[in-house]
Amino acid sequence: MSQPQKKAIDYLQASEVIFDNDEINASVKRLAAEISADMSEDFPLCITLLRGALIFAGQLLPHLHFPLTLDTMDVGRYGDHTYGSKVTIRSPPITAVNGRHILLIDDILDVGITLEAVREWFLAQGALSVKIVVLTDKDNGLSKPLRADFVGLIVPNRFVFGYGMDIQGYWRNLPAIYALKGD
Ligand code: IMP
Ligand code: MG
Repeated sequence: MSQPQKKAIDYLQASEVIFDNDEINASVKRLAAEISADMSEDFPLCITLLRGALIFAGQLLPHLHFPLTLDTMDVGRYGDHTYGSKVTIRSPPITAVNGRHILLIDDILDVGITLEAVREWFLAQGALSVKIVVLTDKDNGLSKPLRADFVGLIVPNRFVFGYGMDIQGYWRNLPAIYALKGD
């Protein structure tokens, strides 16, 4: 077994499930109902934030039974983890944003810097409105610069991964959400 494979296995063994696949599915369905009640007339441009939101978006969107369009965006945060860290757009959506209602789809709202920067970017491009759905919201005790309009699951202030979220690039493919033990 290669070193990276061993490392991935070690991470998994040092972790525990905090939300299983059934709990996530129930949450995704509830979110779809909330979004449908609020946005079904908006013809939203849904933006999947790469790569963490891929699995979540893939499960959520088939539950939305109204017209919408879909695009992706790759955004990264560089530098340290304090306020004011730089948010870089690695790959913008290709769809025209001007005059559209936007639904940002993300995996986790932690400090909130990333989503706040992305929200500002869409408004600067002429979006009519920007709403946010997150699979998870981290209970980190911080006052966040923004709130998500639709929140799936509250996760504890620990490192979490699975269901699209990675730990050092590993385990996005897990069907449940895990947290590092003793974190
Ligand atoms: P923030 O809200 O600007 O702090 O950044 C949120 C981003 O950080 C998410 O989209 C994830 O990519 C990453 N992130 C934050 N906390 C975690 C975690 O516990 N596990 C995996 N990724 C995380
Ligand atoms: Mg992310």
